[in-house]
Amino acid sequence: MATDRIIAPTTASPIEEHANWALRPQSIEEYIGQPELIERLLIAIEAVKARQKSATDLDLCEHLEHILLHGPPGLGKTTLAHVIGAELGTKVHTTSGPALARGTDLVAVLTRLQPGDILFIDEIHRLPVAVEEFIYPAMEDFRIDVCLDTGLNARTVQIKCAPFTLIGATTRAGLLSSPLRSRFGITHHLKYYDQDDLVHILGRSSSLLSMGRPEINSLGSIAARSRGTPRIANRLLRRVRDFAAVRAKGIISDSVVHDALALEGVDALGLDELDRTYLKTIRTIYAGGPVGLEAIAATLNEDTGTLEDVVEPYLLQIGFLARTKRGRMLTNLACEHLGLPRMPQSQLLEEKPSTQSVHSLF
Ligand code: ADE
Repeated sequence: MATDRIIAPTTASPIEEHANWALRPQSIEEYIGQPELIERLLIAIEAVKARQKSATDLDLCEHLEHILLHGPPGLGKTTLAHVIGAELGTKVHTTSGPALARGTDLVAVLTRLQPGDILFIDEIHRLPVAVEEFIYPAMEDFRIDVCLDTGLNARTVQIKCAPFTLIGATTRAGLLSSPLRSRFGITHHLKYYDQDDLVHILGRSSSLLSMGRPEINSLGSIAARSRGTPRIANRLLRRVRDFAAVRAKGIISDSVVHDALALEGVDALGLDELDRTYLKTIRTIYAGGPVGLEAIAATLNEDTGTLEDVVEPYLLQIGFLARTKRGRMLTNLACEHLGLPRMPQSQLLEEKPSTQSVHSLF
């Protein structure tokens, strides 16, 4: 399945979730990357702590403003919620949009909160509309309006909940309703990590995994294959560790990384078999494009949604693919990487890329 790919940015299994947990930064000082967000958070946290110190009325418990984190999967939105909780010394309650199917699910979660706690809602864009209605008064006035009875007997009872901070995470910020978006005080887009940050994260992870001292270039090679995503970097590191233990006396060198990840089908830029087949299909069957997504999906016997969500984003980011008004088109960068014939210049000039076509990875 496309979602089982070693370079998938989502977590593959509870076992992997557990392995990732051990590598997560425990405090904001340990957090690597996202410098602008970290700076914004440090300021907000320090300010709220100062207000908490000088507050006299305990009922008016000072709390951090609600935070919305959006961006691609695997970049550490959940990790950040826990790091913020650790910094404030408060408990983090974790749930997700689909898990809050009814208003009563949300009421149960909200009434369990202690003053200052964090409520982390992953995939907040999947919160049902009926539940969203409950969350507005909770976010604004720490109040839940519960409707009892129906028809003429209908009445609303207000239940107080403790002042809390909602941290919402989403990969699809565009799907959030504007009333919900506007209730967050801090909104931040998480960016892909650059090569240096990934090397730094891998260095930290390899010492937590007691991997000795991997040669410095070896971590760079893993980072280059990690698609800007710490979760992928740590997954590849674990595969390299196993390979080195069995085939290279535990020594992690650049060539060991190359061999270990070639065995997994991952090339020097982090492309796997599905990425390569996708690109080759456009070049060899459809003369490099433009070609519609449905046609490619039919040739590959894949689902259009899978291609759009899990294959194309990275290829667009690294400039291997262009999305034009008439369909998908290969670029010469992709042809060079795969050793395919270059695209005729006339074909490239003819097509106007749509706005999604040119992204830089980092
Ligand atoms: N492990 C995974 N993501 C990390 C990050 N951003 N900083 C430190 N360690 C990490």
